[in-house]
Amino acid sequence: MTCSSFGKCGSCVLYEIPYIKQLEMKKEKLKEMFKDFNIPEIEVIYDKDEHFRARAEFRIWREGDKLFYAMRKRKEEGRGVIPIQECKIVDKAIYNLMPDLLSEIEKNENLKNRLYEIDFLSSSLGELIVTLIYHRKVDESIAEDIKKLKEKFTKVDFIVRKKGRKYIFDKNYLIEELEINGKIYKYKIIENTFSQPNRNINKKMIEWVLKNADLKGDLVELYCGNGNFTIPMSEKFNKVIATEINPESIQAATFNAELNNRKNITFLAMSAAEFSSLKKENSPLLAGYDLKNVFIDPPRAGLDDKSRRFVNSFENIIYISCNPETLKRDLETLAKKRKIKAFAFFDQFPYTNHMECGVILESEK
Ligand SMILES: C[S@@+](CC[C@H](N)C(=O)[O-])C[C@H]1O[C@@H](n2cnc3c(N)ncnc32)[C@H](O)[C@@H]1O
Repeated sequence: MTCSSFGKCGSCVLYEIPYIKQLEMKKEKLKEMFKDFNIPEIEVIYDKDEHFRARAEFRIWREGDKLFYAMRKRKEEGRGVIPIQECKIVDKAIYNLMPDLLSEIEKNENLKNRLYEIDFLSSSLGELIVTLIYHRKVDESIAEDIKKLKEKFTKVDFIVRKKGRKYIFDKNYLIEELEINGKIYKYKIIENTFSQPNRNINKKMIEWVLKNADLKGDLVELYCGNGNFTIPMSEKFNKVIATEINPESIQAATFNAELNNRKNITFLAMSAAEFSSLKKENSPLLAGYDLKNVFIDPPRAGLDDKSRRFVNSFENIIYISCNPETLKRDLETLAKKRKIKAFAFFDQFPYTNHMECGVILESEK
């Protein structure tokens, strides 16, 4: 990929290294980081290095009457944002919409006035949600202007936000379709809740887990989001109990189970730490589950102490991590009495130093 903002934009910082070399470099970095663990060969899973992001956020830059999209500067360039001409990491639906949307907004004072940020979310079917974020008082009177935008961009649903307030003009979700091992799964994704940014890598992560986790019985899942992994994984297990802190994500996950006709999943909105206490408390919520297999996909902070102790009580663990530092810390506990059966690096974030990993740990008993 080439980009006129390489060297200035804080998003893609590995611009001096060809894409395939980036993968080798990241693999070597992981090998070095995890050298004290008995890990198998790291599988490197990658996809397109252009037009791969299904969601993105851009600040707005003004020069006279003109608006530009902007990104935060590279650390070396100091604080603040820089205007960008285009962004090639967003998927084609977002990429094609960006310039046309901005030139329409430019023509309308009410839409333009103190517009601070635009967020995009797209689906594989070309549906989009655009969120306009303002640094001023906005009221329902903006509806007329949004209606005009909507006439022009028929596949887009618009949301307007200003501090603490949100106006939804159509709907605040879209339906994503993923083909996993030849079967289509449908997912409702609600705006401003977590969704995997890289659609193709997401599909490959789910397929990797299904292929490598050769487990039977029931499954407990922490940090389940909208049921992204839960729904296809539920076909391998007898019963699944999946939890997540965000009630909106749980609402989407419950909807998604029905949409995909999965009847063996129970979703609960609670924090991982809260859920972890249920076992000690002999909670009826866990009655009837064999607590042998656990799947976790935590945020960058990894597991808190309580949740780590809980996860460590399972025989088999599937761990998806977006932060190798906290993964390493957690494996110091979790890999003590288990074998690391599979280790993958998924390149969710080409041109950045971020690394997503998948680890399957099985009991040595
Ligand atoms: C990396 S995302 C993974 C979501 C899901 N597995 C997926 O593939 O879309 C992490 C999820 O953990 C949730 N989360 C964050 N902190 C949490 C906590 N303390 N307890 C439970 N869930 C939490 C977030 O809302 C988010 O949905």
